[in-house]
Amino acid sequence: PQGNQCYTYEDCKATADWLLTQTDVRPSVGIVCGSGLGGLAEMLKNQVAFNYKDIPNFPQSTVHGHAGRLVFGTLKGRSCVCMQGRFHLYEGYPIQKITLPMRIFKLLGVDTVILTNAAGGLNQDFKVGDIMIMKDHLNMPGFAGNNPLAGLNDDRFGVRFPCMSDAYDRELQQLAMDVGQELGFGDFLKEGVYCVLGGPSFETIAECRMLHKLGADAVGMSTVHEVIVARHCGMRVFALSLITNQAVMDYDSEEKANHEEVLQTGKQRAEQLEQLIFTMVARMEHN
Ligand code: 6GU
Repeated sequence: PQGNQCYTYEDCKATADWLLTQTDVRPSVGIVCGSGLGGLAEMLKNQVAFNYKDIPNFPQSTVHGHAGRLVFGTLKGRSCVCMQGRFHLYEGYPIQKITLPMRIFKLLGVDTVILTNAAGGLNQDFKVGDIMIMKDHLNMPGFAGNNPLAGLNDDRFGVRFPCMSDAYDRELQQLAMDVGQELGFGDFLKEGVYCVLGGPSFETIAECRMLHKLGADAVGMSTVHEVIVARHCGMRVFALSLITNQAVMDYDSEEKANHEEVLQTGKQRAEQLEQLIFTMVARMEHN
């Protein structure tokens, strides 16, 4: 592999094959839990769980609020695999390590990936506690050359120049809206554009104003890299942002972004977010 590519197809295959020897679960849905949203994994039935440190080739997660377990099990009778805790650029990992789990999902047989994250709200119509269906993204690290697909392309995963205009599955967005309405979540279920930055520092006021002008509705530090790699290898993608705080856009504001607020809001809305995802999984069509 090229210097910046830390995993080959064979490395990914070895990890997937090892996991398949450890569990009988054959997942069709892969879920990634964001900060404070790891409760989703706890809802799986007939769990088989692995600490990241015990999985060959897997990175470790280092952030408070992220557990670091890969959980297999069933959700409403559907076989799922769930990352309880993810990897971020700000932890200092090479970007290919952050997205490795997507390729392992693919090789485990997953066809649909559901990602969640905690994000700051930039859209002035959003409130803390809103759940935003991601309809698109702005990949700021990508503008600067930090894309998880940079380096040699392995055609066994996907094409050299993958399309991203269809990254977020429209049918799943519609299903989320329908399910959300039925569950009575209409008042706090929104849709919008997520912008990823490297972190770990939160944005300045000028940066928030800039991102808002560029068309971002929410800002965070994850998800987009995983989406790119998942789409590259042909998995269907659906993603949700929980708006845990309003990004500060105003010099008169006394507000300050902080990780505790992010986790606190996560706790308050986590149950509804989980319910939305379960109900969707139960209704999803698979190929
Ligand atoms: Cl305000 N910014 C970023 N970059 N990530 C966040 C956030 C804000 N709130 C939660 N995650």
